[in-house]
Amino acid sequence: MGQAQLALPGVASEAAAEWTWTEETGEEAEVTSFVHETVLKAEVVAALAPKDGVYVDVTLGGGGHTEAILEAHPAARVIGLDRDENALEAARGRLVRFGDRLTLVRTSFGRVADVLATLGVTHVAGLCADLGVSSPQLDEAGRGMSFRREGPIDMRMDQSSGETALDLIERLGDDELADVLFKYGEERRSRRIARSVKRALADGQLLTTLDLRRAIVRAVGPVRVGGVDPATRTFQALRIVVNRELEELEELLAALPAVLAPRGVAAIISFHSLEDRLVKRAFGDRTVWSPLSKKPVVAADEESNTNPRARSAKLRSAARCTAEEQRGYYRRDRDPAPEVDSEPELGEGDAESEGEP
Ligand SMILES: C[S@@+](CC[C@H](N)C(=O)[O-])C[C@H]1O[C@@H](n2cnc3c(N)ncnc32)[C@H](O)[C@@H]1O
Repeated sequence: MGQAQLALPGVASEAAAEWTWTEETGEEAEVTSFVHETVLKAEVVAALAPKDGVYVDVTLGGGGHTEAILEAHPAARVIGLDRDENALEAARGRLVRFGDRLTLVRTSFGRVADVLATLGVTHVAGLCADLGVSSPQLDEAGRGMSFRREGPIDMRMDQSSGETALDLIERLGDDELADVLFKYGEERRSRRIARSVKRALADGQLLTTLDLRRAIVRAVGPVRVGGVDPATRTFQALRIVVNRELEELEELLAALPAVLAPRGVAAIISFHSLEDRLVKRAFGDRTVWSPLSKKPVVAADEESNTNPRARSAKLRSAARCTAEEQRGYYRRDRDPAPEVDSEPELGEGDAESEGEP
């Protein structure tokens, strides 16, 4: 049995390049064939508790979570989404043995409701999201996401459409660029950096990712603060904006209640406080969600020691309330905000998480 792949309108289906997968090591990462450690795999499976039903993995990547779901129950089926054709191709190879229990769709996960409607799926039993970029996306110089590798200032996960990071830098004025760096990278030296980057652009000295890093270093010096490279926050901010990462997450969170069956579970792994804050706020609506745990689940020491990316991962899971639970909620005297842990601050670990300490 072959795997299904759906081509959606407006979604290019180009031939995939040869693709390898690696996990970020925090040091120089090597691209090797599928050396990938999926973050919080057992914890995601425990939250979803797969059974006979349809699940959606909205960030398929190399297919690690999807594989775990398909292995956990012989009648579970997965619809895997990714906006990156190379990731879909990698997962297709890895998961071929599951045949038509797996359907792959190239799309952005903000469109999950449309995708399911197109497939004729009304509700799913569970959904997982492992946010951010994959290691191959970071490692491949041609994508321009790494300040360690010389490449175009691109940063798009889906290279078939949209504005590149260089387009963005060209379009924004100094102050607007500084605002982006401050808001999405929580970069305190945003004004200095923005001015230096725009000057490099005007001087014709902003051609590659290494030029971009040089412009940042000219503004703030080469010293690593808290072990983090001076370019980390700027690269993170540009990547988030280029890929509309927070808007996509907001669209996904808004779609979830309609997409999940009653008692269906959403399990979302985030890697920095900007994302985690959105997930926490959405799951805090107790008329819709029943969180599976009070605090986010984090990686055990054993996983963090072997997989640095796991150190900043936070998994939040919640079940969609049934109509009866919702009625019960409205009958009860409500305590305000019953489920919250303290608001996370962006620490150095957050900036490192997506990236490149
Ligand atoms: C961290 S990787 C997922 C790894 C995967 N869970 C595994 O274990 O192999 C994140 C993936 O999500 C994809 N992605 C990120 N944002 C997306 C979006 N808005 N829509 C669709 N895919 C997205 C990226 O292209 C990347 O392949």
